[in-house]
Amino acid sequence: MSFAGPAAGGLFLALAPMDGITCAVYREVITSADATPCGIDLCVTEFVRVTANAVPESVLRRDLPELATGGRTRAGVPVAVQLLGGKPEPMAGTAARLVSLGALAIDLNFGCPAKTVNNHDGGASLLRTPCRVEAVVRAVRDAVPPAIPVSAKIRLGWDSAEHVAELARAAEQGGASWLTIHARTRVQQYAPPVDWVAIGRARRAVAMPVVANGDLCTTDDVVRCAEQSGCTAFMIGRAAMGDPRLFARLRGAAAPAFDGAWMRALLHRYVETLRASGTTEHASLGRLKQWLRLGAPMHAPMLAAFDRVKTAARLADALALLDGWEAAAAERAA
Ligand SMILES: Cc1cc2nc3c(=O)[nH]c(=O)nc-3n(C[C@H](O)[C@H](O)[C@H](O)COP(=O)(O)O)c2cc1C
Repeated sequence: MSFAGPAAGGLFLALAPMDGITCAVYREVITSADATPCGIDLCVTEFVRVTANAVPESVLRRDLPELATGGRTRAGVPVAVQLLGGKPEPMAGTAARLVSLGALAIDLNFGCPAKTVNNHDGGASLLRTPCRVEAVVRAVRDAVPPAIPVSAKIRLGWDSAEHVAELARAAEQGGASWLTIHARTRVQQYAPPVDWVAIGRARRAVAMPVVANGDLCTTDDVVRCAEQSGCTAFMIGRAAMGDPRLFARLRGAAAPAFDGAWMRALLHRYVETLRASGTTEHASLGRLKQWLRLGAPMHAPMLAAFDRVKTAARLADALALLDGWEAAAAERAA
């Protein structure tokens, strides 16, 4: 079954790609976290780096185990595979290989701000030359069947939002199915403020759907972003760590923003699934801390949890420390 992606006008919610976080285990756990549907329309993988040659099948199967389950998580949520690179040919070859293996959608990363990536011609460095964004999108678009969406993810620009509409048009001319915009420039990295109004300028310049991204932490944020950008499609990253039920709440579910027992059970399941998939105890502890660390600035109770767990040396100790979490959160709030 193919996957259509966001249509103009309807609410669409995507889980943002986050390198080192949104691995297959995370995708599995977050999309099947509750008895009610998770509310996520699309997950995007961590970026797959494409350099001189198309990425081998073994690497793609390792990073995307969902290829074995129709390109969807076990809960049925489609997974787009994100590719990062500046060379059209190997990007196209990798995309074609992915689709032949069963991938449902391809996303192209033009937003990564990491120096190592940018110095090697990848991620946000292409934002300085919109024609290169267009060329990569076109090569990938031409390499996969029309029914497979090819989306692009950009920032507002390299050091200003001045050319965001031009960048959006470049992606559209290359044949992008939709465009996700993280409302910061590359120079900003992750510093405030986000500029959702600039996303609106890009949205009005193109006919394809535009997905708004950046600091969407609460339902109120999404309402304000919709007002400022005119978007009805949103991508949420770090807030999914602090409040995984934000997606469901945006769809009207009555789930609370914080429920210590629920969150604790989810984190236990995450760690169990990591361990069952062969992740070492040490690496699983690191992943648990990473989840809490990223959720912390987004959500006060997560900050309390991170403070308790951050110095734990053993996985069992960290999990035990989650037990006193609600009291610690209440103490902080008082
Ligand atoms: C740790 C981390 C890793 C990220 N990795 C990726 C990535 O692999 N690909 C990508 O397009 N964006 C990546 N991003 C950016 C996010 O997808 C998103 O655009 C950004 O975090 C803003 O959204 P948020 O405020 O909802 O988190 C990453 C962000 C973080 C914090």
